[in-house]
Amino acid sequence: MRLVILGGPGSGKGTQAKKLSEHFGIPWVSTGDVLRAEIEADSDLGQQVSETLAQGELVPDSLMIDFIKDRLQQTDTAQGWILDGYPRTAFQAEELDFFLETLNTQVSRVIWLELPAHCLIERSEYRGAIDDNPDALRRRIATSLETTMPMLEYYEYRQRLVRVDGNQPVDDVKREILAALR
Ligand code: AP5
Repeated sequence: MRLVILGGPGSGKGTQAKKLSEHFGIPWVSTGDVLRAEIEADSDLGQQVSETLAQGELVPDSLMIDFIKDRLQQTDTAQGWILDGYPRTAFQAEELDFFLETLNTQVSRVIWLELPAHCLIERSEYRGAIDDNPDALRRRIATSLETTMPMLEYYEYRQRLVRVDGNQPVDDVKREILAALR
């Protein structure tokens, strides 16, 4: 099982990825969590990206592509994985496919959590993470609208996209995802 979860900021990617990771017994890789942890630790990478996250912009593709290639070669990912926050652009999606080809594998399914923008804002405001300040949040939603459509087209064309209504209780979203994966 090699899953990608896509959705706007606060759409529930992390919430569902954690549940699916427990359900399937495979690791969950959240690029947002990794970056926030690097910032908290004040590492070199954290210092490089902290301004970008605070502004709600995307970190450069090259940084994220290198990170994901390295992470998906670690032994715990041999039976599968769940990506939350990667890919973010059609370019990252293509690079992921090229890389997986070299490992003789591919993405099994791509889950798109659909939610209206006002729900995304409410949820993220409630959560209050370091990059949930109002300006960054507006920018993250705008960026997500710009970059998501080409990615959806990319995966739809390859018949891997599953659309799920993210605007329902957490367990109902999970049930809908599992039904779609059967
Ligand atoms: P990232 O952490 O991926 O941010 P995001 O897309 O803005 O998503 P969130 O983590 O804020 O939300 P989520 O969809 O996981 O929802 P959650 O489950 O937490 O990335 C952060 C930043 O890192 C980016 O802006 C960018 O700068 C950088 N970055 C990361 N990856 C990158 C990449 N590949 N390329 C370039 N840059 C990258 O839920 C949100 C809230 O809603 C929670 O409080 C939760 O309890 C609640 N909730 C969840 N589900 C439900 C439900 N069904 N009903 C009610 N409440 C719910």
